[in-house]
Amino acid sequence: MCGIIGYIGSDNTVSRLIEGLRALEYRGYDSAGVAWYDGGMRVVKASGKLDNLAAKLGDAQTTGIHAGIGHTRWATHGAPSDTNAHPHGTPALQLVHNGIIENYAALRAELTELGYTFQSDTDTEAAAKLLDYYYTVEKRSPLDAISRTAARLEGSYALGILFADDPLRLYALRSGSPLIVGLGEGENFIASDITALLRHTRDYYQLEEGEIAVVEQENVCIYRDGVPVEKERKTALWDVQAAERGGWPHFMIKEIHEEPTAIKATLHPRVKGGLPDFSGERLDTSVLAKVSRLHIVACGTAMHAGLIARGLFESLAALPVTVEVASEFRYNNPLIDENDLVIIISQSGETADSLAALRLAKEKGAPTLAIVNVIGSSIAREADSVLYTWAGPEIAVASTKAYSVQTALLALLAVETALLRGRLDEARGRALVTALCEDAPLAVEAILDREEEIKALAASIAGCEDLFFIGRGAGYYLAAEGSLKLKEISYIHSEAYAAGELKHGTISLIVDGTPVVALCTVPELYGKMVSNIREVKARGANVIAVVCADADTNGIGVDSVVRLPQLCEELLFLPAVTVLQLLAYYTSVARGCDVDQPRNLAKSVTVE
Ligand code: M6R
Repeated sequence: MCGIIGYIGSDNTVSRLIEGLRALEYRGYDSAGVAWYDGGMRVVKASGKLDNLAAKLGDAQTTGIHAGIGHTRWATHGAPSDTNAHPHGTPALQLVHNGIIENYAALRAELTELGYTFQSDTDTEAAAKLLDYYYTVEKRSPLDAISRTAARLEGSYALGILFADDPLRLYALRSGSPLIVGLGEGENFIASDITALLRHTRDYYQLEEGEIAVVEQENVCIYRDGVPVEKERKTALWDVQAAERGGWPHFMIKEIHEEPTAIKATLHPRVKGGLPDFSGERLDTSVLAKVSRLHIVACGTAMHAGLIARGLFESLAALPVTVEVASEFRYNNPLIDENDLVIIISQSGETADSLAALRLAKEKGAPTLAIVNVIGSSIAREADSVLYTWAGPEIAVASTKAYSVQTALLALLAVETALLRGRLDEARGRALVTALCEDAPLAVEAILDREEEIKALAASIAGCEDLFFIGRGAGYYLAAEGSLKLKEISYIHSEAYAAGELKHGTISLIVDGTPVVALCTVPELYGKMVSNIREVKARGANVIAVVCADADTNGIGVDSVVRLPQLCEELLFLPAVTVLQLLAYYTSVARGCDVDQPRNLAKSVTVE
């Protein structure tokens, strides 16, 4: 959700803020704004994409040392508009916020009594005016006023603040929403994540809950409970190219093409002598040997990766697994205890519901393992164990390479679990590991080489408004992901259905020409899928079948076939998901949609 940037240095502060916001725009893109001090507080805001703000700013620039803050918004309280865009403030200060102030209505009422008036519909304005109260009415120092404000705020927030009479310092604090302090040469930053800073620095401090940063051009001081603390200087492993589009038309297609490399980068360091090796990781694998159940909890695409993992853990390791969306898990009073292992999957590591599910699992005494892409993110830090996926930054809102590395890593973990529990002999374990590390990335590459074929299929469905994905077993789990991807970026309504369940109601929606994508990725269920395909064909469906390399498709009457490369059946989900991602991508392009920034969405869902 929302992105925060702050800059202090001698470069043009306005252009640095816009540059940072461009890198953060994936976090929210319905309005944006900046504030900087130049003899007086300058605030410029614009609804819509960042280009609108850039146009409004024209050639505004600063010379000399200046501080500024910027924000790109994903609306929660109040529609996207110039007025609701951040920063919010008073003549004394301006503030940008990521998160939700849950008690904003009560604060607003209290501040109204004190004579404050409100212009926007946002929760943020209450925080800005409360801070103003402590600063200008009670005449507290900036640090004291911020601490007092923080003590009154309920919810989650990261704040960036600029005071008009202290214009050579940026203030920032974090409680529940991510924020880092970037450390440059003769310049410093605050940012929601490191991707915004990679052009200038990879060094940063990670703010912990409740910490307040005072950021000057040459100096940074971080306070906890009013006392300065020593922080560990961290260095990001990502480079600037990884977070830029390069020559690709969209981040999404760039990221799909990165899948083979990302899978290898995630798996290869975890294999020794042809077998899984998790030594040196923040994971004690003995827990895998003794747990009685796994609970996989995540949101969206990450949850779909969990479904694939369920199939693998159950079939290879005979370990019972439940998979639940985090927003349900957290309120369903889950029956878990210290004998279970709770696995949280998250690309960003900041998803609010997944983080809350993790905290609940810990409260209930269950050991927790995070599968996370962003190093040092909240979920990674709070889980008992963590395994990082080495996908590099994922910028497109539609998650693609993250799913591939999550499922690949979980497959390796399932093999390790099966070996530890004596459910798999070493020879079979080795064969699976080789297939996963060597054959699967090649199979994904083989699909990428056939992009034109999938582009043509996308053209055939681009005009439809309803579509079905059907499958059985892993094919059904893939259907769920294929459907989400298509809906998210092409705005075509689609449903994922267990193929055998269609005739219990949903088949009534199949009419002449309805496209149906049939995921036939489980060889032993192929005959059953063929029957289900015939059922929809008999009602006029236009069927695209995704089948195994040697499947016999003669006489089924499907309209198009995508034949997957030869690969052991347990791992076919990897090339198959690439087919579905490309299908969604090219459909979105054909429909002229905004592929990387689909309407109403944001990349990192840090609110409930
Ligand atoms: O960062 P996370 O993996 O926790 O994000 C979870 C979902 O919000 C995310 O996968 C979402 O469903 C994607 N936009 C799907 O493409």
